[in-house]
Amino acid sequence: MHRGKGMKFVGDSRVPAERMPNIPKDYSEYPGKTEAFWPNFLLKEWMVGAVFLIGFLCLTVAHPSPLEKIADPTDTAYIPLPDWYFLFLYQLLKYSYASGPYTVIGAMIMPGLAFGGLLLAPFIDRGPHRRPSKRPLATGFMLLAIAGIFYLTWESVATHNWEAAKAQGKIVAEVEVDHEAEGYKLLEANTCLTCHGAELTGGAGAPALVGVKLSNEEVMEVIKNGRNAMPAGMFKGTDEELQKVAEFITSLQEK
Ligand code: HEC
Repeated sequence: MHRGKGMKFVGDSRVPAERMPNIPKDYSEYPGKTEAFWPNFLLKEWMVGAVFLIGFLCLTVAHPSPLEKIADPTDTAYIPLPDWYFLFLYQLLKYSYASGPYTVIGAMIMPGLAFGGLLLAPFIDRGPHRRPSKRPLATGFMLLAIAGIFYLTWESVATHNWEAAKAQGKIVAEVEVDHEAEGYKLLEANTCLTCHGAELTGGAGAPALVGVKLSNEEVMEVIKNGRNAMPAGMFKGTDEELQKVAEFITSLQEK
């Protein structure tokens, strides 16, 4: 920057006559301190990218995604769970003041206020300070939000029935079920499918009837007398039909 001598000023003395346009300098002015974008820089980027790609690939192979069986829209007992980063919003919907008739409060108003506040933060908090300690309101709300999200996520994880969640989506052996078979029609007529599923693959409320490890007699026993959550007396047909149902169920084995 030339100062003083040899400098010409116009009108406003702060503006030199030969003003240079405000264009950043060409990188040729920094010999040795720059590098070409192609191929030097891109090659480095690609190398880092490849390392991450292979890293993610190894991770996905080591931890396959926890897939469940194909979603069954008729399985009303299935309890879905959002991914971990939405658990705090999900937990909000479990409180009596934010669920049921007040779902709008838990689903729209509370998250709306929080995220709306975040959106409006630059307009609400216009102080010039950058230190967190000089911005008590902004800092306070941020800490409150972090504490709230942490607490809600924690509660959601702690109160979820992980055992049932694991059982409800379990992938069971797929066996071609003959919907025209007499045994199937009997199951349908006796409302067994409402719990055990139209493809007999089970659901949140009952286990699969495919690959049952019981004898015909034991199956008849369970159907007649029930067992745990399996209600007794569901089957209204004759003994002969019961025999047919049992044979049908035990025939559904994985090949
Ligand atoms: C209310 C839901 C419900 C209905 C309706 C229902 N079941 Fe079940 N069923 C269950 C449950 C739950 C079990 C698992 C019981 C246990 O955990 O011991 C079960 C178990 C069984 C089993 C034993 C499976 C095994 O692997 O041990 C058989 C067989 C069976 N049910 C047949 C039937 C038949 C046939 C009908 C219709 C007459 C029927 N179920 C109706 C809920 C139901």
